[in-house]
Amino acid sequence: MDLSPKDKPYPPDTLGMDSQEMRRLGYAVVDAVIQRLENKHLEPAIASQELAPLLEALGGALPEQARPADESLELLIDSALFHQQHGDHPRYFARVPGPSSFAAVIGEWLGVGFNTIAASWPGGAGPSTVELVVIDWLRQLMGLPEDTEGVLVSGGSQASLTAIAAVRALKGQGCVYLSDQTHASLLRALVTLGFPEQDIRILECDSSYRMSAQSVRDAINADKHNGLKPMMVIATAGSTNTGATDPLHTLADICAEHDIWLHVDGAYGAPAVLSESGKASLAGMERADSLTLDPHKWLFQPYDAGCLLIRPGVLEPCFNMNPEYLKDVQAAGSATDFRNRGFELTRRSRALKLWFSFRSYGVARFREAIAYSIELTEFAEAHLRKNPERWEIISPAQIGIICFALRGESAEEHERRARELSESGFACVTTTKLKGRTALRLCIINPLTTQADITETIDRLGY
Ligand SMILES: Cc1ncc(COP(=O)(O)O)c(C=O)c1O
Repeated sequence: MDLSPKDKPYPPDTLGMDSQEMRRLGYAVVDAVIQRLENKHLEPAIASQELAPLLEALGGALPEQARPADESLELLIDSALFHQQHGDHPRYFARVPGPSSFAAVIGEWLGVGFNTIAASWPGGAGPSTVELVVIDWLRQLMGLPEDTEGVLVSGGSQASLTAIAAVRALKGQGCVYLSDQTHASLLRALVTLGFPEQDIRILECDSSYRMSAQSVRDAINADKHNGLKPMMVIATAGSTNTGATDPLHTLADICAEHDIWLHVDGAYGAPAVLSESGKASLAGMERADSLTLDPHKWLFQPYDAGCLLIRPGVLEPCFNMNPEYLKDVQAAGSATDFRNRGFELTRRSRALKLWFSFRSYGVARFREAIAYSIELTEFAEAHLRKNPERWEIISPAQIGIICFALRGESAEEHERRARELSESGFACVTTTKLKGRTALRLCIINPLTTQADITETIDRLGY
């Protein structure tokens, strides 16, 4: 088929570049990225800066006329991209790191370069198929039933927001049960969706920072007794503070008994299931009615990539949107319009990077990387336990997270030491508060991190 228009030479592309220049700039970017990847362990784990010098470098008048591309690239790399938390640095242990991988970066670049869209079936059959495939691969890894559906979104917050909106559309308004260790994005989702305060039960966690099944049972019984409708339990598979997993089997039993939806937030922790010991820690996760996980955390994807896996037939009735101007880009039969599985209409493909990295590395290497980090966190605990006069374990190593404190030191002193270490650039560590006690916390999920990185970080904190 000849697709070239007749008698229509194209005018010069106003925003075009000649192919030589495109290649030169493209290769320069590839070189810059690879150079950083090879040297990142020598650079700071986090680099902060005040607004004024950054504005001085990056601001200025609106550039009405073109500026040299090489100069702009250099400014972006040296000023904008340098000054951030480097979540893929081997000594970035704060919050939840983002240990991205190069095969995933390539998949992302390809999607951006082709301006990929995965909104409707007629307008994106190829990318939508890749997303369906990736969702099923993730479903298999998580051990969920075969008919599970899913959608890729920007991250854990968006995945859980999507789940809660869809489940409420299905089950109607009712009470929701979470714990004081549930990630803050879940409470925000409930408030954003207009859940009234009187429908939200935040239950105190037990001494292991897990949701207490007995508290959930008691709260449900009390609500039923008062004529209220229990609607959803939000459990956590790997809490951000301690890595603890709620008693998922018991919670699933309670939910089944009372016809309550079980949403599990495994944003950071769920991929631990790829390793044998992680799988044991996450027992019962496969019984979730919906599961949040974040491939941009422990599945080695660059930002952003979140995923919601959910029982079939729940998303579309909530998000379905087929106005007259979208009729000709509407799936026929059993095909999927991803725009009808969440809040986004125009949506890029987040699946390409997952697909490419799963195929390029093989899942076995993901398993190896995850198992390695779980063991390294146990090594960190063992190192701390060698010096019990100095260190106290506040929460033991659990799927990549450990919390500990210096005996006899104040909250302020812990915060000061964490801040100073981060400011030095050697490592990025933060504190958290557990049952009123300030603790230092390491989240160790980067396969580049070595035992020496761990011992030196701990020793620099405990000097
Ligand atoms: C357990 C948990 N849930 C939800 C989130 C929110 O995920 P995101 O930042 O991708 O929206 C996080 C982030 O760290 C998390 O650790």
